[in-house]
Amino acid sequence: MFKILTLNQISIKGLERLPRNQYEIASEFTAPDAILLRSHKLAPADIAPSVKAIARAGAGTNNVPVADCTARGIPVFNSPGANANAVKELVISGLTLGSRGILQGIAYVNTLGDMKDGAELAKLLEKEKKRFKGNELAGRTLGIVGLGAIGSLIAHAALDLGMNVVGYDPALSVDAAWRLPSAVKRMENLGSLFSRADYITLHLPVLDATRGLVNAELLSNCKPGCCLLNFAREEIVNVDSVIEALEAGKLRQFITDFPTPELIGRDDVILMPHIGASTDEAEDNCAIMAANQLDDFLCNGNITNS
Ligand code: MLT
Repeated sequence: MFKILTLNQISIKGLERLPRNQYEIASEFTAPDAILLRSHKLAPADIAPSVKAIARAGAGTNNVPVADCTARGIPVFNSPGANANAVKELVISGLTLGSRGILQGIAYVNTLGDMKDGAELAKLLEKEKKRFKGNELAGRTLGIVGLGAIGSLIAHAALDLGMNVVGYDPALSVDAAWRLPSAVKRMENLGSLFSRADYITLHLPVLDATRGLVNAELLSNCKPGCCLLNFAREEIVNVDSVIEALEAGKLRQFITDFPTPELIGRDDVILMPHIGASTDEAEDNCAIMAANQLDDFLCNGNITNS
């Protein structure tokens, strides 16, 4: 029997991939064979000597000490692409929130609870709704930084919305290049992408090369009034530079899935609580992929996606 230590709640559809006659699954074990987790931050000291593999039901592996695991010969599996559709859908919501007065309009309507006369309400709204006018996405240019599973799905959706799409990815795999719609114009460098786009969305892992990548120098290339979206990792964006760009009018809005304390309460920022992958479907898909990889490794010695 293999002992699997779960450090977060894992979708039952994933756990069902680990048959009861071969696996014991629990949230506490002194000598587990493997660790299955989502966003729990794992320290090297938390990994018992018995651990042979770690699987993350999610795309990024920045909550796992990968270098330490590699030095100890422990493969770390993740589930790239398994939550891409969920992230894509939230990014498209971010684009519409950034182009229309949706949040402001809803907040305004919620202040009108005492108004009982429908005709009076309609008259008031006729006057007030001018404040919530926005612009359409069709015809605008979306810049996608990172053209992997998520970036490519967003490219398809943005083209369907009538947007022009430019993209940049210095490490584009052959598979990813095939998935990318031919209408996406590939940029030679980030500066060119930033100077052409009305909306910019980031889809990169956090690595030494990407930490603080979006800084004052890069943001100085933006078209005035550009809208920046970060649904990737908080550390990719330098928050002070974003505040300066917002205050200088270089950026019109910053929309992010990370509730950065310095940004809470600003009118020109929309903060979400890291819910990009929070759908039933994404949690099932990630758990199934992670469990299948653990099973294939523990039972057959196969290593995929580590
Ligand atoms: C991921 O890495 O899969 C997503 O950001 C979601 C998460 O961190 O749980």
